[in-house]
Amino acid sequence: MLDRQAILEGLLETDPARTEALWARADAVRAERVGPAVHLRGLVEVSNHCVRQCAYCGLSACAPRVERYRMSREDILDCARRARDFGFGTVVLQGGEDPGLTGPFVAETIRQLKAETGLAVTLSLGEREDAELRAWRAAGADRYLLRFETTDPELYRAIHPSLPGTVSDRIRQLLRMRELGYEIGTGVMVGIPGQTWDTLAQDIWTFRDHDMDMIGIGPYIPSPGTPLAGDLGAALARRAGARQVPADETTTLKAVALTRLLCPETNIPSTTALATIDPGAGRANGLLRGANVVMPNLTQPRYRVLYQIYPGKAGLHETADVTREKLEAQIHGLGRSIGRGPGGRGRANFSD
Ligand code: 5AD
Repeated sequence: MLDRQAILEGLLETDPARTEALWARADAVRAERVGPAVHLRGLVEVSNHCVRQCAYCGLSACAPRVERYRMSREDILDCARRARDFGFGTVVLQGGEDPGLTGPFVAETIRQLKAETGLAVTLSLGEREDAELRAWRAAGADRYLLRFETTDPELYRAIHPSLPGTVSDRIRQLLRMRELGYEIGTGVMVGIPGQTWDTLAQDIWTFRDHDMDMIGIGPYIPSPGTPLAGDLGAALARRAGARQVPADETTTLKAVALTRLLCPETNIPSTTALATIDPGAGRANGLLRGANVVMPNLTQPRYRVLYQIYPGKAGLHETADVTREKLEAQIHGLGRSIGRGPGGRGRANFSD
């Protein structure tokens, strides 16, 4: 078992042979513990309204000139039907922290979606009241994604000026969700200004510490006009100095590979952010170095163009069926199969 020091050494590794050995180990553990199947989760970006002011995000409440939308229930169900018709096992309802997505609206949407499609439902709607989380779980939601973004308490506060709690509060909220019966997912961005190597090693350690069911790791991509892409980011990077983590593909892949070694049975997506910084090979590289999940975007194009967390998001102008065909060819090209069924964590993944 790797300890914190070994994680740090893995992240800092520059020797090509030892880096290759890390990739090979991560891929072997992935094959042995969650199998060859790549699970596809259809992503539905249900609302770009947000009350928060996260310093990295293009949909922050203070982002100017964002045309805001909230999908109707019928729009959401349309996407879910497409997910079912494509053979995906899960649909992910993701949005900003939007009080306009009311507890009852989301609950009824989940109920109808489950009744009609039978798909597993993952929610990613920010920090919400326990009563809502309970009601959504009762309506049939299976999983919840809430990245903690960084374990450095000061950095967490600096990049989340409007969040009421600390990073410990956020982790506690995830653990409460688990108690409510959700599979819980979290994650971080790699290379946010102010993130040091020690912090990133601690982030990965924390995934293991809480035995997270799903872990999303993508590179930070500066979003124009946000504080983190401007003065705040410059100041935080200055503070980190030579310990600043770069927001590059290799570092992201090392974080993915090390996470697979520490959390062998967790579900790890090859993220859209990774595919965005390397449109040619990012997605495949993630799948070859520990990842076993892809989240194709099913959002209708008229909404998708408005859900710009960061610029140039991969697949922005593709229609859902093109995305899906390309993906299936790519997955088979890697000698992998498409996962069937809901694709819960661990050995449940050996579905074919
Ligand atoms: N670059 C990369 N990832 C980002 N996210 C938000 N903004 C950015 C950005 N500028 C990630 C966060 C969030 C997830 C939905 O998207 O980690 O949790």
